[in-house]
Amino acid sequence: MKMRKVVSVIGAGNVGEHTASLLALRGLVDVRMFDLPRRDGEKLIEPVKGKALDIQQMLSALNIDGKVEGFSVSPEGEGYEALEGSDIVVITAGFPRKPGMSREDLLDKNISILSVIAQKIKEYAPEAIVIVVTNPVDLMTYAVYKILGFEKSRVMGMAGVLDSARFKTFISKEIKISPMDVHAYVIGGHGDEMVPLISISNVGGIPLKDMLPREKIQELIKRTQFGGGEIVDLMGTSAYHAPAASIVEMVEAIVTDNKRILPCSVYLEGDVGKYYEAEGLCVGVPVKLGNCGVEEIIKIPMIEEERQMWKRSVESVRKNIAIVEELLNARNTL
Ligand code: APR
Repeated sequence: MKMRKVVSVIGAGNVGEHTASLLALRGLVDVRMFDLPRRDGEKLIEPVKGKALDIQQMLSALNIDGKVEGFSVSPEGEGYEALEGSDIVVITAGFPRKPGMSREDLLDKNISILSVIAQKIKEYAPEAIVIVVTNPVDLMTYAVYKILGFEKSRVMGMAGVLDSARFKTFISKEIKISPMDVHAYVIGGHGDEMVPLISISNVGGIPLKDMLPREKIQELIKRTQFGGGEIVDLMGTSAYHAPAASIVEMVEAIVTDNKRILPCSVYLEGDVGKYYEAEGLCVGVPVKLGNCGVEEIIKIPMIEEERQMWKRSVESVRKNIAIVEELLNARNTL
């Protein structure tokens, strides 16, 4: 009988590698990593196997139990048999942003990559919970959800946890209080129109709006909305430490069944779809996570100003859905 949960991470680049490493360090799960081999001059090398071995040896050095394995795959979808038995699959494969690029600039290339990967997950891990990280994440989550045909509770995108962590960082630095006592949610699409919710943000129970002047709060909102871009401009590629930690937070909530409320991009329909005015889209909203995946979608209250920001954010996701549908149809993946 399998005792430990297995988390497969597809794409072992910056985000995937750090995710695998952090997951292994937590000691909660076994980790399988998947990535392409690459040419180094004449030689074909398999970095994913080397990275897995390196992480496995790190566990030995720290006396942590756990199994970490690496598997080479092809862009056409060969090599995914080891997905079998995965409880959770995290998709980080694909291109990251470079300076000057929006997340939407990645759409076409990353959809082709994820179309193949989603079909392999469907084939080898039909019971898994899937966390999509590849950008533009709300559109990629939608595409993966459509291809997989899994219940909506088992497909979610990671963005809100990261955006909220960025917001908390900026608030905590500004008021010089531990981020542990800062409660702040960022919802909406993972783009420049994301919605930091001020009306319910608080520090040790005191509303944020009573702790900082409005202009300062607006500054923090802007910095959060462009928080990803700030790092792209500094590093020349997109962030990976905080994204990896945010994925781990979601995985841990699922594996330990701790019922945390975390903002995740999920498919919205029915009553919650109507509440959020986002039926038929994947957008970031607070959800309760447990071992079934998304166990409840929370209808968070918004003041009028936030509702207006929310609508703009939803529109920025909606305007690209037709392109996603076209790309999926062109690939015959639906
Ligand atoms: N199959 C498997 N792996 C692939 C494929 C594929 N078809 N195509 C690319 N990859 C792998 C690359 O080989 C690389 O190792 O995906 C990995 C991506 O890693 P990075 O280029 O380092 O990108 P990273 O910073 O990890 O970002 C990955 O997550 O946060 C998002 O915007 C980010 O979309 C980007 C994704």
